[in-house]
Amino acid sequence: MQSVPIIAIDGPSGSGKGVITQMLATELGFHILDSGALYRLIGLAARKRGVDFDDETALATLARELDVQFIPTGDQQNPLRILLEGEDVSAEIRTDAAGVDASRVAPLGRVRAAIGELQRSFAVAPGLVADGRDMGTVVFTDAVVKIYLTASAQARAERRYNQLKDKDIGVSLHALFKSIQDRDERDMNREIAPLKPAEDAFVIDSTAMGIDEVFQTVRAIVQKALGEEKE
Ligand code: DC
Repeated sequence: MQSVPIIAIDGPSGSGKGVITQMLATELGFHILDSGALYRLIGLAARKRGVDFDDETALATLARELDVQFIPTGDQQNPLRILLEGEDVSAEIRTDAAGVDASRVAPLGRVRAAIGELQRSFAVAPGLVADGRDMGTVVFTDAVVKIYLTASAQARAERRYNQLKDKDIGVSLHALFKSIQDRDERDMNREIAPLKPAEDAFVIDSTAMGIDEVFQTVRAIVQKALGEEKE
């Protein structure tokens, strides 16, 4: 039995894993690791310092020395304030440009290795819900539960479209679909830590499910596994 229970939630962009991670962590009182935010922070730090995106050595050094703080806010919509070198970058790392920069640094093996220890340091009592692409396959291979949450690219594009429409941000469904397909292509076909379900993951396809149904499904899996762990 492991001392700190870890729940790994992996999946492609727009699969809803961020929301499910938050709902689960709130219910269990566990910590959250948003590993995508780390790649976004490395991209942002590189931009701010003028580091060349082709210079893997410099990016790995920057990743190793990343001065970042995650401060819980208690607000479920925006659960964390994220500080980079003391500056609040919570909104800045969520922009599309930051996502593109993140996807440029994420395939680099030395960058990924540089934040291995930082990611594992989030595993403290009473437990951790870790959200990403390689949580169950690379970073937390000993996770007590591994979930792979997916949905068709069309469904994910439509969800994103509806979110943006509600915020009055004009964007076409087709452009979102294309961007999701491109991101899948990059995340799934890279050499190092490609996005795929761990062999022992529960795969949930949420294409035809609402968020509550997904949460109930995940919750049942997690409660069973945590119950078995205690026995
Ligand atoms: O989940 P997100 O959109 O915040 O992720 C940003 C980028 O980081 C995305 O291109 C994939 C990459 N990423 C990764 O390679 N490994 C992770 N564990 C999390 C994210």
